[in-house]
Amino acid sequence: MAESPTHTDPQPIDAILSDVYRQSLAADVGSVADYIPELSKADPANMGIAIATVGGQLHTIGDAETLFTIQSISKALTFCLALERLGRDAVSQRVGVEPSGDPFNAIELHPATRRPYNPMVNAGAITVAGILRDAFGADAFEIVHQRFSMAAGRTLSFNEAVFKSEEETGHRNRGIAHLLIGAGALELPADTALDLYFRQCSIEVTAIDLARIGATLANMGENPVTGKQVFDVTAVRDTLAVMFTCGMYDYSGNWAYDVGVPAKSGVGGGIMGVVSRQLGIGSYAPGLDPNGNSVRGVATFRALSDELGLHAFDPTNAGSGFIRTFFDRNTGDVRL
Ligand code: DON
Repeated sequence: MAESPTHTDPQPIDAILSDVYRQSLAADVGSVADYIPELSKADPANMGIAIATVGGQLHTIGDAETLFTIQSISKALTFCLALERLGRDAVSQRVGVEPSGDPFNAIELHPATRRPYNPMVNAGAITVAGILRDAFGADAFEIVHQRFSMAAGRTLSFNEAVFKSEEETGHRNRGIAHLLIGAGALELPADTALDLYFRQCSIEVTAIDLARIGATLANMGENPVTGKQVFDVTAVRDTLAVMFTCGMYDYSGNWAYDVGVPAKSGVGGGIMGVVSRQLGIGSYAPGLDPNGNSVRGVATFRALSDELGLHAFDPTNAGSGFIRTFFDRNTGDVRL
């Protein structure tokens, strides 16, 4: 009996990217965040996508070089640094790993543990900022900035105006910090932990940077372009697990179901996705949905996941994950 072909000829990845880009532009534009006044200046028409492989290749489309602030995507990376520095057990005593099902800025703690639900909501991320500030002292921001830059493979800029804007208007985060102090989850003065938290959120990236940082996480913590080890490999595993369950706020369940890739979003409009051992994906489109996730970014990841076979539990990937027809396991490259 003649064998039937299992797949059509592979399309070049750039053709797929341009198709996904067009589909995503057709999605609603969403609303640019304005609760931090400086963020409202973003152009809702901007949209860029970048894919970086663990072999060092890069594919981009649209506004992939537009700068925006990393915002909550920083939470995944600072969590990774805290795990590295204190170890898993010590971090677990300060912050949980359970999805909250509530908005990212909810003023709440887990009722049983009196600790933040997870490091991807503000309460958890402010606790992690406190951990890093305690561990590294006044140099904490420098260290965070340097690690983020190493992961991206270039020195990242800092948006002073966004930092000031958030510092002036971050009353809700101050409320969360005081709740944490009252519960014994944060031992520093609120403003000391918040200074680091607001600063980490104000680091600027592009979609390309997010893809490169994602590729560093995908590549067991080693930046595939510079060859430098940026993150500890055990901490990477734990970080990806929490990104998978909690990275997209109260949309995390739907995301795991539909996209199936560990990811983290930020109100600046970025989303960073990681396909372990294969690639990092960065998207930028500043219009958000009510959960705080980029509308066109979510559309991008949904389409890429379908087109490229990215879903972690897609049995037709037979354990190979990303791009069954494009990925070369031996070289780590995407065949064009
Ligand atoms: O805490 C805040 O309000 C921001 N600096 C970060 C929030 C954020 O990005 C949440 N994302 N969806």
